[in-house]
Amino acid sequence: MSKAKENYARITTLTLSEMKAQGEKIAMLTAYDYTMAGIVDKAGIDVILVGDSASNVMAGHETTLPITLDQMIYHAASVVRSVERALVVVDLPFGAYQADSKEALRSSIRIMKEAGAHAVKLEGGSQIQDSIERILQAGIPVMGHLGLTPQSIYKFGTYTVRAKEEAEAEQLIIDAQMLEKAGCFGIVLEKIPAKLANKVSQIVNIPIIGIGAGAKVDGQVLVLNDMLGMNKEFSPRFLRRYLNLDEEISKAVKNYTTDVKNQDFPNIKEQY
Ligand code: KIV
Repeated sequence: MSKAKENYARITTLTLSEMKAQGEKIAMLTAYDYTMAGIVDKAGIDVILVGDSASNVMAGHETTLPITLDQMIYHAASVVRSVERALVVVDLPFGAYQADSKEALRSSIRIMKEAGAHAVKLEGGSQIQDSIERILQAGIPVMGHLGLTPQSIYKFGTYTVRAKEEAEAEQLIIDAQMLEKAGCFGIVLEKIPAKLANKVSQIVNIPIIGIGAGAKVDGQVLVLNDMLGMNKEFSPRFLRRYLNLDEEISKAVKNYTTDVKNQDFPNIKEQY
């Protein structure tokens, strides 16, 4: 049993900061519904992210941009209803915080009140500093997200590794320091060079959670559906598949269909 599991009945933002101080790595996964979140929570995950990747993996959109605040609240409320231990962080979706800091606060309050979330996550650095400060002033824990920020995909034009050039790497460090100073409890670093991610995790004292950012950060996050092997088409280098659920589900459905067609299901013991 991990130290965190022994010591903490419920993971809080403070727990995560203690884990960083003690050198215990933080395990984070996404979840979007009651059933999966319950399994993930009982298995001992530290943080559940109700990511706007729900736009891709739940709704089938090409990007994270279309998902709405109402839809995020629906997913988040379903997750919160089954979670007993993990910290539940919810993404503010595109369009729910970019206009101004008042809108950012209003959206965050809805997520906290209507979904019962424990924290929110926003993509971006200095350009959304006002919003981050305003949300934090209201007592809502905020997680930052730097590097590849999928809500800006049409600005980047590509999902390739970010901050390989000196200027972008320097700006990322400045943004990470700003997020720490503002009071964020952690930062997700997505798809940046491992060396840079390691440098950021040494410079700032808040936990750095990587996805495609190498091993030398304070924790890791993956999209649940990807690590369970539910999407064969998505194969970035950083993804490790722990199951081939795509094949397992397909096998089960084929067997069920055959049984129904052959009148093998239901059998005598499976009826009233
Ligand atoms: O939406 C999401 O799933 C995320 C992770 C990739 C960090 O933001």
